[in-house]
Amino acid sequence: MRVLLYTGKGGVGKTTAAAGTATTAAARGMRTLVLSTDAAHSLADAFDSLVGAEPTEVDERLFVQQVDSQRRFEASWGAIQGYLMSVLDSAGVDPIAAEELTVLPGAEEVLALLELRDQARSGEWDLIVVDCAPTAETLRLLAMPEALSWYMDRVFPMERRLVRTFKPVLTRYTGMPMPEQPVFDAIERLHADLGEVRDLLTGPDASVRLVLTPESVVVAEARRSLTTLSLYGYRVDGVIANRIFPSAGADAWRRQWVAAQSNILDDVAASFGSVPIWRSPYRSCEPVGVAELAAFAAEMYAGDDPFARPTGASPVRMERDDDGGVRLECDLPFAEQDHVDLARHADDLVVTVDSYRRVIALPAVLRNAVVTHARLASGTLVVRFALTADAV
Ligand SMILES: Nc1ncnc2c1ncn2[C@@H]1O[C@H](COP(=O)(O)OP(=O)(O)O)[C@@H](O)[C@H]1O
Ligand SMILES: [Mg+2]
Repeated sequence: MRVLLYTGKGGVGKTTAAAGTATTAAARGMRTLVLSTDAAHSLADAFDSLVGAEPTEVDERLFVQQVDSQRRFEASWGAIQGYLMSVLDSAGVDPIAAEELTVLPGAEEVLALLELRDQARSGEWDLIVVDCAPTAETLRLLAMPEALSWYMDRVFPMERRLVRTFKPVLTRYTGMPMPEQPVFDAIERLHADLGEVRDLLTGPDASVRLVLTPESVVVAEARRSLTTLSLYGYRVDGVIANRIFPSAGADAWRRQWVAAQSNILDDVAASFGSVPIWRSPYRSCEPVGVAELAAFAAEMYAGDDPFARPTGASPVRMERDDDGGVRLECDLPFAEQDHVDLARHADDLVVTVDSYRRVIALPAVLRNAVVTHARLASGTLVVRFALTADAV
């Protein structure tokens, strides 16, 4: 089963590209589900049909689903939120403010991705296409399982032991409610669930496509997304340049736009390296309905196979060096040396690119290893470790 994610700035054509791709797949005989995790659902508009929170059949082998993220959120976060609210309440925080404080920004979409995991597990589909929320949110949420992992691996076992031992004393002494067993269970379950989503999305069958329009601000954001997605280990196997003005019969106004877009498209072609760039013209009307969406996708992919598995290595790799050390490589396309920071904290390697941070938990064999070299060259961060005698 293949998983394709479409992301990009608001309004660039994510929903249209996702829906068009799904339509093409179903027409080729693949059992296909296209689901949106973006709270601003518009798959129903793209297909011009009623779509619910469960997979709805809109054509042969083609199902559409708009995930009810609120419901997902309550099921996974409800117990944890209840506990956090009781803590804030005991600290005298107004209940309405407390509720707002306990809703993590972007969390709804993270939890909507649990639906993707469930659908992937069901074995019903050859292809699942995900219409994601705009770039920033998606990136933040994609990073979350790892942040939670860090907490779970390092802090949670200790905290849980402490709470179990000291809970009666702490509650009496501080007057602060201590988490009950169901809260811990909910955190543990959420952690396991998000880990599965992450494994699915960074696995060899999943890839991300960046949708952009030929405008400089949009392209700048797409480049940042590529860096960040690579930092988190997601494969990007395509860029879609949408809404390209056709040049035929141009008046002065159109000629100017065509020239401007063409410069930006040259830049896109030069800068995204080996990632294929699919181009889609600005059509004379909105591509709505199965037939229009199929035509949109056929023109965009222009004979390429949009369902091929991504080739090439994962953006984060670790391997033995000839000299017996270990090399860790992390692709960071477009990142600049002075925006990248590397730090070692106990068993973790912390890579920061601008405001994005990835904590790479080092395998046991590297815990005592010494970093002998770290360099960013041609868009790849290379860190070399020398194994100390007691680490081997
Ligand atoms: N190439 C195109 N030509 C004409 N209209 C388009 C094209 N791509 C998208 N649209 C229209 O633009 C609007 C926004 O597209 P949509 O796919 O919903 O963007 P997003 O999901 O990124 O917000 C929709 O009304 C869609 O039908
Ligand atoms: Mg959309």
